Amino acid sequence: MNQASLHQIIALENQDPTKANDLNKLFELRLSTNLSLIKDLFFSLYPEETHTTSFKRLLKQLPALFKERPISLKLQDIHRLKQGDWYQSEQLVGMQLYVDHFSKDLMGLESKLGYFEKLGVNFLHLMPITPRPNGENDGGYAVNSYYEVDKRFGTKKDLLRLTEKLRDKNMYLMLDFVANHTSNEFPWAKKAMAGDPKYQEYYYIYPDRTIPDAFEETLPEIFPMTSPGNFTFNTEMQQWVMTVFNQYQWDLNYSNPEVFIAMLDNLLKLVNLGVDVVRLDALAFMWKKLGTLSQNLPEAHALISLFRMCLQIIAPGVVFLAEAIVAPNEIIKYFGSGATKGNECEIAYNATLMALLWDAIATKKTILLYKNLHNLPKKPEEATWISYIRCHDDIGLGFDDRYIDEVGWDAKNHRKFLLDYYCQNIDWSPAKGEIFMYNPKTGDGRITGSCASLLGLEKALEQNDKAKINQAIDKIIMMHGIILSYGGIPLIYAGDEIGALNDYSYIKDINKKEDSRWVNRPYQDWETVAHLDSKKTYHSIIFFALQELILIRKQKRVFADSNNLILYDDHNPHVFIYERTSDNNEGVLVVCNFSESPQAIAEISLGPYGSLAKPKDLITGNATKFVKGKLELKPYQLFWLSKT
Ligand code: GLC
Repeated sequence: MNQASLHQIIALENQDPTKANDLNKLFELRLSTNLSLIKDLFFSLYPEETHTTSFKRLLKQLPALFKERPISLKLQDIHRLKQGDWYQSEQLVGMQLYVDHFSKDLMGLESKLGYFEKLGVNFLHLMPITPRPNGENDGGYAVNSYYEVDKRFGTKKDLLRLTEKLRDKNMYLMLDFVANHTSNEFPWAKKAMAGDPKYQEYYYIYPDRTIPDAFEETLPEIFPMTSPGNFTFNTEMQQWVMTVFNQYQWDLNYSNPEVFIAMLDNLLKLVNLGVDVVRLDALAFMWKKLGTLSQNLPEAHALISLFRMCLQIIAPGVVFLAEAIVAPNEIIKYFGSGATKGNECEIAYNATLMALLWDAIATKKTILLYKNLHNLPKKPEEATWISYIRCHDDIGLGFDDRYIDEVGWDAKNHRKFLLDYYCQNIDWSPAKGEIFMYNPKTGDGRITGSCASLLGLEKALEQNDKAKINQAIDKIIMMHGIILSYGGIPLIYAGDEIGALNDYSYIKDINKKEDSRWVNRPYQDWETVAHLDSKKTYHSIIFFALQELILIRKQKRVFADSNNLILYDDHNPHVFIYERTSDNNEGVLVVCNFSESPQAIAEISLGPYGSLAKPKDLITGNATKFVKGKLELKPYQLFWLSKT
C-alpha cells in the first residue's frame, strides 16, 4: 500500500472539511503520515550528522507552504483524493501544445477551448510558459523563473483565469517543472556569476578542469552537435559550470539540501497556479556522481520521492509525470521501486511503446514490439502511462540491443536502417524526417519529424499519389487508435489531429536552426480548422476519425487503465493484437495491420473474439466478417472488436 492510498483513506474519513481549522487538521494528519518517510529520505541524501539544521528548516517550510495554497485548490485536492486514481480514467484525452504556436498567447488559448471540446480533448500539456532567455532557450526549457508567466504568453492573471475556466469545464492542466537545471539568467545563476559563494554552491562549479574531466570520463553527451561535453567555461567567474544539456542550462546541485528546499518552494508556487499534473522534466539526471553516467541513480529516485512525499501533504491532488526517456527497465522504476515503491511518480511516458511503434512502421513487422513489451516488468496498479506517438522531442531508439539480436536482426545495422528509413536515406521509404544529434563518433542519432511526414503523407502529397495519401492517412489513424486504446492518458501532439506536416521555417531562425526538433513544432493551421466541417480533405478525414475514436474510448470503461491489458502474439508477424480485458465480458480486442499488404488472421488467434462471439467493430459499428474462419485486414487497418 503506497502513501497515496493512506491519504485517500484520510480524505474519505473526513467528510467535507470546509473551515480553515478542519483543513489545518487534515494537513497535520497528512504530515504525520509522511513524516518518518520524509525524514528517512532526507537523511539518506543529506547525512544527519551535518544536516539537521536544513531538515528543521524543511519542517518549518511545510506548513508555510500549505498556508500559501489557495483554499479552492485545497478543496479540490480532497475531491481528487476521494476520486482515487482519476488519472487512469478512460475519460482523459490529452493534447500537448506550444501556446505561441497554437493560439499566440494564453488569452488566445482560452478562446480555443471549444476546439478541444469538439475533438474530445480535456487534458492540456502546455509547453513552458515561464520566462526564458531571449536568444536560444531550448523552447523554454531554460527557465528564468519557475512560476512567472513570460510576457510573450500574457500575464499570470491570464493563466489564473485560464486554469479556473479549465476547472469549470472539468479539464486538466499539465505544466513542466524543469527540475534539473535553470537558465544561466536565473537569479541564482546571476548571483553565482557575481561571485556569491552561497549561490555558487547551488550549481556544480569548478575552478579548473580536474573534476569536469573526471566526470566526463563517464558522462554521455546529450546534445553532442550543439553542446558537446558536459561543462561550460563561464568567463565572468572564470570557472567551469556543469551544463549537461545546453551551455545555457546550468545543472542544479541537489547534493546541497538548500537547493532541494528552495526548489520545493518553486514547485509549490507552480502548482498553486492550478496545475493538476507536474511534468518532472529530465528527472533521470537530477543526481550526479563521479564515475557514473549520472542518470537513474538511486539518489535521484530518493530525491524524487522526497519531492513526492512533501507535495503529497501540501497538495495531494497533484500528481507527477516522469519525463524519463530512458531504457525500458529504468522507466518503470520512476513509479517507485524498493524503498520508494509506489511513492515516486504516478505517470510516466510510455517511450518504449512509442519508439517500438515507429520500429514496427519501418519494418512492417511487430516482432520487436512484442518482444520488448513482453519483457517489460508490470507497472504498479496505481500507476499509468502517457501513451503518445509524437511529442516536441526527437524519437530516440532507446530499446535494448539484446532483443534486436534475439529476433534475429543485427542491432547496429537495424538502428542504422531505422535512421536511414526515417531520415531520407532510402529512396523507397515514404518517410520524410530529419536526423537529430547524429554523433559520428558513435553512429548514434535520433529521429525528428511530424507524425504525418514520418508516416508518408508529405511525400505522397508531393508526388500527388492518391493511393499513397490514403495509406498515410490510414497509418495516422491506426497509430492514434493504438494510443487511444492501449491504456494510459493518450496525448495527441497538436497539429497531428489535422495531419500537420513538417515545418521547415525553423531553418531561417538563428536561435533554432541548429535544433532539428523544431521541424515538428508547427503553428496551428486555423484556416484549415475553419473548413473542417465543410470540406472533405485529409485534414478533416483525420480529425473526424480521431474524434470518433475518442468518443468510443470515453464510452468504454474497459479503456480505463487498471493493468487490464493482454498481448496476443500467436499469429502473423505484421499484426499487433491486444485485449483490454474486463470482468463483465465487455473487453475490447484491438487488431492492427502494420503491413502494406492485406493480412488474414485465423480466428483461433483472436481468443474469445472469434466468429462464435460475433464480434462487432466499434469503429465502423459493423459486424465482423470472417472469411473461411479468418479475419481479413486491409493494409494499416485498425479494428476495435467487442463481443456481442
Ligand atoms: C526534456 C525536454 C526537452 C529538453 C530537455 C532539457 O527532455 O523534453 O525538450 O530539451 O528536457 O530541458
